[in-house]
Amino acid sequence: MSDPPLLKLANHPKRKRTVRTAGQTLIHGECVTVMRSMDDESFDVVCSDPPYCAATKGASSKSVSSAKKYTSSDAKRQFHAFEGDYRDQRSFTVWNAIWMTEAYRLVRPGGAIACFMDYRNLCCVIDAMQVAGFAYDGVVPWIKKQGRPRLGWFQTSQSEFVVVGRKGMVSRDQRRCGPKSLNESAPRQRIHPTQKPTELLKNLLSFRDDWQRILDPFAGGASTLVAASELGRHATGIELSTHYFELAAARLRSVSSAAKAA
Ligand SMILES: C[S@@+](CC[C@H](N)C(=O)[O-])C[C@H]1O[C@@H](n2cnc3c(N)ncnc32)[C@H](O)[C@@H]1O
Repeated sequence: MSDPPLLKLANHPKRKRTVRTAGQTLIHGECVTVMRSMDDESFDVVCSDPPYCAATKGASSKSVSSAKKYTSSDAKRQFHAFEGDYRDQRSFTVWNAIWMTEAYRLVRPGGAIACFMDYRNLCCVIDAMQVAGFAYDGVVPWIKKQGRPRLGWFQTSQSEFVVVGRKGMVSRDQRRCGPKSLNESAPRQRIHPTQKPTELLKNLLSFRDDWQRILDPFAGGASTLVAASELGRHATGIELSTHYFELAAARLRSVSSAAKAA
């Protein structure tokens, strides 16, 4: 079957390379193209962190580097730009609905989706998740211990959100509640400008024992895969940027060697 026109227009590359460590798989490619090659119900949960497309006005804003936009002074270095951070709000909603529709097919009944977003495009993710078929189940706030101060206004950039949804009914046989909020600082030592803290991801994923097979369509610096590895679970990550794929692969290999040596 040929790719639908939307993806043809975007001229995405086909799958290029796969790196495997014990339990974790990192694929270099475009997530919708790669997800379409995967079997139905292969995962328990999709843990995703797409480009936020915050403060963009469509194709004209492609010139604004994602690296510059999301790099805070604490990182004290210049990052390479990453892919896909240019859509305006309307196209961002449509695009999220496209990849989330694949995510819905790939999650087993009773499985779930979690998607990071900040206050600016939260509405797009909530809408798209439901278009894709998931039952929207609310947001878990990520309260950062540090963040850009905004003098004279609410500190809205001190938090981000994890939008959560489920595919059908989730079994309620486990007696643990999920976290009310996630409270971590963004890592100072990072390989990706929007890298999520490993502890935060472990906290998010570990409360359900039946989330053993994890998919991250936007792997970035492979934080989800590292968290899964530390939890003894299996994760598959997909990353489009060649630069970040290489860095993520190196990080994954070093985590795997350290675990073997321990
Ligand atoms: C917000 S970052 C993810 C950061 C990651 N969670 C971490 O902790 O390092 C989003 C990533 O998705 C990648 N990306 C954007 N569009 C993509 C696509 N269509 N398929 C696969 N990866 C994509 C970008 O290159 C970027 O590295």
